[in-house]
Amino acid sequence: MTAVKLRKKQTDKISLAGRIAFVTGAGSGIGKASAMSMADCGAHVVATDLVGELAEATAQAIAENGGRAESITLDMTDDTAVVDALDKTIKKFGRLDILHSHAGIQVEGTLEQVSPEGMDESWRLNVRSHFVAARTVVGQMRSQGGGSVIITSSNSGVQYDREMIAYATTKHAVVAMVRQMAADYAKDNVRFNALCPGWVDTPFNAGFETQMGGRTALESYIANSIPMGRWAQADEIADAVVFLASDLSTFMTGQALVIDGGECI
Ligand SMILES: NC(=O)c1ccc[n+]([C@@H]2O[C@H](COP(=O)([O-])OP(=O)(O)OC[C@H]3O[C@@H](n4cnc5c(N)ncnc54)[C@H](O)[C@@H]3O)[C@@H](O)[C@H]2O)c1
Repeated sequence: MTAVKLRKKQTDKISLAGRIAFVTGAGSGIGKASAMSMADCGAHVVATDLVGELAEATAQAIAENGGRAESITLDMTDDTAVVDALDKTIKKFGRLDILHSHAGIQVEGTLEQVSPEGMDESWRLNVRSHFVAARTVVGQMRSQGGGSVIITSSNSGVQYDREMIAYATTKHAVVAMVRQMAADYAKDNVRFNALCPGWVDTPFNAGFETQMGGRTALESYIANSIPMGRWAQADEIADAVVFLASDLSTFMTGQALVIDGGECI
């Protein structure tokens, strides 16, 4: 990671007390930071991940910070498991206030390099799983008078990456889906927004790193191509999640919130 002064979290004064938040892909990177930041603000977090030990580590880290959390092993490509985990959460707490549907996959390549199976795999996690999750929670959110659904897209959902057809296509689809859902449920006070990060230094970028020819080349790309000249820290993205989850954004729905150091200007 480029040298950047460690940033203090900005969410100290924001309260999510009494809110129940469900986060997918919460075992690492942005999902973990989102879970921890929402818990810092008082939410009870259900941290889920494909890798159960990672989800549990996030829940434990939250508990060590004095927050409230629990973990579930959850593969977001398994419809039955997704519906089951969300239904059980709603039944247990009697409500669900925040869904951060975050897990995603990056299958790199051009039209000739990505197989139809690679496109299906991307679609399954990057679009369909969010649809299934949002579909499962919206009835409860409607009946309780509102809620916030945050779906992770990318700044690749509002611009185009070189040689990333499956990723850019599915991330654009997330933005379209969020806007449609927002329009349909605005009257119910269920808000849907897309989170569109730029480069965040997490294990997720292994594919880009390979594509660019290694870590040094990637660091040089970040330094030279991102207007702010650096990566984002996961906490900087988590602050935006807290904003979208909280009462700071009560009149905001159907938006693609881009946090990318100016990359897609
Ligand atoms: N890191 C970035 O630069 C960046 C930029 C833009 C968008 N994003 C988006 O953020 C998301 C993940 O990024 P990250 O940086 O947090 O990655 P990460 O690699 O740090 O963490 C991803 C987590 O998701 C989990 N996961 C993978 N497949 C899963 C599945 N099928 N079901 C449930 N969990 C699963 C992994 O086990 C891992 O813990 C993706 O949607 C990605 O498109 C990341």
